[in-house]
Amino acid sequence: MKLAAVADVHFKQENQEENVRQFAAVNHMADLLVLAGDLTNHGRVEEMEACLAVLAHVEIPMVAVLGNHDHESGQQDTLAGMARVAGVNVLDGTCYEHDGVGFAGTKGFCGGFAPYELLPFGEGGIKNFVEIAEREAIKLDYGLAQLHTPRKVAITHYAPVLETVVGEPEPIFPFLGSSRLGRVIEQHRPALALHGHAHHGSFATKSATGVPIHNVALPILKKRQETHPFVIFEI
Ligand SMILES: [Fe+2]
Ligand SMILES: [Fe+2]
Repeated sequence: MKLAAVADVHFKQENQEENVRQFAAVNHMADLLVLAGDLTNHGRVEEMEACLAVLAHVEIPMVAVLGNHDHESGQQDTLAGMARVAGVNVLDGTCYEHDGVGFAGTKGFCGGFAPYELLPFGEGGIKNFVEIAEREAIKLDYGLAQLHTPRKVAITHYAPVLETVVGEPEPIFPFLGSSRLGRVIEQHRPALALHGHAHHGSFATKSATGVPIHNVALPILKKRQETHPFVIFEI
């Protein structure tokens, strides 16, 4: 299967024509399009409308997770519903199968990377914060566990490993992802793990057990001089 993937498009109404032209090309280049979060800039309904007006030109199956920006206006459930009605398979601790390949996804959360990740100790606020990160990891685990396909793909918005956030300012690494997601990926060993969020991170790494992990944030793809606003993987 040829998989096109991108994250952090942050669709804007101004770029509509160019986006339509560029995303319509995916129909001839891949069997499925993955959107790993931050479809919008401020999580507004009109931004999702602009996004879906572009994606209406995509004829192959689409699988997405939401990102933190899609939560900014507190309308994430509305946005996910709009996308689903438009035919985008929005994963949130759920899974989707196409042509023998299984996809499991969730937004994920931050909290940092082992051995320096934030632990649920002390104030209630810290415990609540860590609980959100743990819940997101459980959702990814649940989604992957539902799949019985020989090949699986894990999709998150936040990074599951440190290596693909390298390039961002070091003090913000703990806000860009969580090893809790990475440990779930190690446990299930999908064929591929995709994420975004770290716009200035690194494109590729492999987990300790050899799972290819890619940060497909659009600014990284642009830096790599990809000719389209997505990158193609063959799995
Ligand atoms: Fe983003
Ligand atoms: Fe983000």
